[in-house]
Amino acid sequence: MEPLKVGILISGRGSNLQALIDAAADPAYPAEIAIVISNRADAPGLDRAKAAKIPHRVIAESGRRAFAAAADRELRAANIGLVALAGFMRLLDSDFVAAWRDRMVNIHPSLLPAFPGLHPQRQALAAGVKFSGCTVHFVRAEVDSGPIIAQAVVPVEDGDDEDRLAARILVAEHRVYPLAVRLFAEGRLGISGNRVSVAGGVPPDIVALNPTLASVES
Ligand code: GRF
Repeated sequence: MEPLKVGILISGRGSNLQALIDAAADPAYPAEIAIVISNRADAPGLDRAKAAKIPHRVIAESGRRAFAAAADRELRAANIGLVALAGFMRLLDSDFVAAWRDRMVNIHPSLLPAFPGLHPQRQALAAGVKFSGCTVHFVRAEVDSGPIIAQAVVPVEDGDDEDRLAARILVAEHRVYPLAVRLFAEGRLGISGNRVSVAGGVPPDIVALNPTLASVES
């Protein structure tokens, strides 16, 4: 079967882009990264696309509609079947979101619907939660909303600051995004209202506790 063509939208570092590039390097992976689009010419993620010889474009249009029109053109020209937002820091035009409904996904570094928007790790620390994590979801008009495909849970540790927690969550992001894209590419996802069913998906059977007590020998 032809691999699914994925278009990735970035604004910055591109470590999730890299995780997807690395996953797609395996010939058994059912998706290929066919185009990378950045809204910023200085996004370091563009160098990752370059290094992997993936076509990449900068669309620096400042207007939301103009950006959407140009991005839509590029994505269609590349025959894209799935759009993946990976650290894409602009609000998208609502017609663009509607046009790619159920064919556009995003990753967010919290367990949505908790802590949408900016600084989710800071929000998690301020709320004092013992677990946070990351979420891959289909994109709907509201920021960081939409049917959830996959989540990974990450513990919050006592000494955490925003950067430490973000780094721990990022490790999980790099596992969960390639998984979610694979599930989509394999046609395993069913959407019913806000719920996504995963054919062949097996939930883990253990619920984690944080904290647990280390046994101390004295
Ligand atoms: C990630 O934490 C992602 O979840 C969020 O923005 C960050 C982007 O990082 N949406 P990177 O550009 O993928 O390294």
